[in-house]
Amino acid sequence: GAPVTVNISKIEPGQQITVEWRGKPVWIIRRTPEMLENIEELTPRLKDPESTEASQQPEYISGAYRSLKPEFIVLVGICTHLGCVPTYRPEVAPADLGEEWLGGLFCPCHGSKFDLAGRVFAGQPAPLNLEVPPYRYDSDTTMTVG
Ligand code: FES
Repeated sequence: GAPVTVNISKIEPGQQITVEWRGKPVWIIRRTPEMLENIEELTPRLKDPESTEASQQPEYISGAYRSLKPEFIVLVGICTHLGCVPTYRPEVAPADLGEEWLGGLFCPCHGSKFDLAGRVFAGQPAPLNLEVPPYRYDSDTTMTVG
């Protein structure tokens, strides 16, 4: 599959967009400062907070935010359990997910929960964090996935 270049300048804070790369949905989410704080806060509740599984991100991606710049996260939108597409649930404490939910990705198939860096919570059916695909910034307003 060819790399995909995306204009990110119109993505609003808190918004998620989907692009297709190699036949897979790839999400780009522009995280707000509050979302980034919640990512830090959720770290103790995760299965692999340091993202040690090498298959799940390029080697230049590290840290809690799992991104080149804190604001934008790029994730393959496929659950690491059995391949369903999780849903983007940025809201805090929604009625169906409970008070502990601080925004993240929720897989409707078997209920796996991920934070807004794609890191899976402890005790979930999904074994691994969501995949961060290879990507780079071409400028302040464009990135290329692939
Ligand atoms: Fe996502 Fe099973 S496919 S939890």
